Amino acid sequence: MEDDFSKALRQTADLMDKELRTLLPVSEGLEKRLFDAMRYAVLSPGKRLRAFLLIQSADLFAVPRLHSVRVAAALEMVHSYSLIHDDLPCMDDDDLRRGLPTVHKKFDEATAVLAGDALQSLAFEIVSDADTHPSAEVRIQLAARLARAIGGQGMVGGQVMDIHAESNPIDMATITRLQRLKTGALISFACVAGGILGHASPPQLQALKAYAHDLGLAFQIADDILDEEGTAEEMGKATGKDAAAGKATFVSLMGLEDARVHAAILVDQAIDHLDPFGPKADLLRHAAHFAIHRRN
Ligand code: IPE
Ligand code: IPE
Ligand code: MG
Ligand code: MG
Ligand code: MG
Repeated sequence: MEDDFSKALRQTADLMDKELRTLLPVSEGLEKRLFDAMRYAVLSPGKRLRAFLLIQSADLFAVPRLHSVRVAAALEMVHSYSLIHDDLPCMDDDDLRRGLPTVHKKFDEATAVLAGDALQSLAFEIVSDADTHPSAEVRIQLAARLARAIGGQGMVGGQVMDIHAESNPIDMATITRLQRLKTGALISFACVAGGILGHASPPQLQALKAYAHDLGLAFQIADDILDEEGTAEEMGKATGKDAAAGKATFVSLMGLEDARVHAAILVDQAIDHLDPFGPKADLLRHAAHFAIHRRN
């Protein structure tokens, strides 16, 4: 039988699918190829974990779903943009994503670059739109934090370090920073954004941030473990790529078993940070376990 967490994650995926279909543009004009590529990337079957984290964090403060779903949609657009660019020949050069040909394979490289660009700006358009939250102050905070999470001091900075890690030896402290930036920053935004939508207090925001900080790192360690031992059928993307590229990851530095132990410790720590929210945060607790026990 489907457990409460799996059911809630599936419901989020359905909700996101509807919202994203409405928010993504359609055209029969010259932009059609671009818009088709954007829809193709975003509407392909992702886990929607970042959206789930955002909506569940917002639910802690009884934020109307009408608002949290829009920010979650913007977040999934940014995440899709990052995957389109990550898969490009000049980056990881991948042909398969979410069980489908990558955007540059299905369309072409220029369209893939531009679809990523357009998804990023659409995300900011949505976050700053008055429909997203009645308070302009809240919308500005969300936009500023999203910008910081994905820029040179966040995700993109992490991606640069990741490329560097393919041809240079790096130590544990550096790999930790790399992973926190490339993956952790966006996951952190997801949880903190939920709090901002709900006018959370500074200690509450801090608790969400601390939870996401540990969860984000555990999530990327699990991705590296799955790259090593998962299959392309399960994962919907090529595996064995990190080792083939000689890339430094937690797995290459610690070995599979220690990486698994490290990720499990981080998950326990993440869960501890949710104490102030009591049983209301149970789905977020399950999400932390899911981050490392998932098979794709
Ligand atoms: C993949 O993220 C990229 C990483 C940061 C490891 P997900 O594993 O969440 O990808 P989707 O959205 O479910 O496809
Ligand atoms: C991607 O990390 C992180 C971002 C897109 C920011 P990976 O390169 O490990 O992700 P996968 O394994 O291709 O999904
Ligand atoms: Mg990569
Ligand atoms: Mg990749
Ligand atoms: Mg990976």
